Amino acid sequence: MFKKTAKETIAIQTKLVMPNDTNPMDTLFGGRLMAWMDEIASISAFRHSGRICVTASINNVSFEHPIVAGDFVTLEAKVSRAFNSSMEIFVDVSVEDAMGKRKKCNEAIFVFVAIDQFRNPIQIPDLVPETELEQKRFDSALRRKQLSLVLAGRMKPSEATELQSIFETE
Ligand SMILES: CC(C)(COP(=O)(O)OP(=O)(O)OC[C@H]1O[C@@H](n2cnc3c(N)ncnc32)[C@H](O)[C@@H]1OP(=O)(O)O)[C@@H](O)C(=O)NCCC(=O)NCCS
Repeated sequence: MFKKTAKETIAIQTKLVMPNDTNPMDTLFGGRLMAWMDEIASISAFRHSGRICVTASINNVSFEHPIVAGDFVTLEAKVSRAFNSSMEIFVDVSVEDAMGKRKKCNEAIFVFVAIDQFRNPIQIPDLVPETELEQKRFDSALRRKQLSLVLAGRMKPSEATELQSIFETE
């Protein structure tokens, strides 16, 4: 099966935060941002696999700075590693205020699974990292996959080869 570079999987979207996207504190509702991140990550997953993909897990969502109505929010999704049918996708979120000042405000890590017409997981292309950051995220992705599987009850801690220092087993 052919390979794809991380760059080929990039999906970018910019949103204007409207009053109906905000909570009673007038900051962006976290659930709305989650939906935007899920959507952009699914586009990146499709660009990598060329298949319909479903969200298998969402890990490490962090909300570092509040986002307010009128801000421009840019979401960038990129596949960091592909396994057999699953792929890890980083979503980096930055915000631009009314003065044009831009800063990174959120990050999330998604796992998507490519499926066939019967909803069965299907093989996807390998991913080739090119930049230093892409290589770093690629190298650490197996550790995060195992952690996600252990937390979901899909893997025994004793089988998580990359996590032995966390799950000390006799
Ligand atoms: C995700 C799904 C397709 C997995 O199907 P499954 O029959 O359990 O298949 P498998 O156990 O073979 O897992 C398939 C892949 O997903 C990975 N996976 C499954 N759950 C995972 C999790 N919680 N974290 C990380 N990876 C996970 C497996 O490791 C495997 O990866 P690999 O093929 O790259 O090695 C299935 O559980 C599903 O359809 N879930 C619902 C998805 C959905 O509706 N999402 C939207 C939520 S509203």
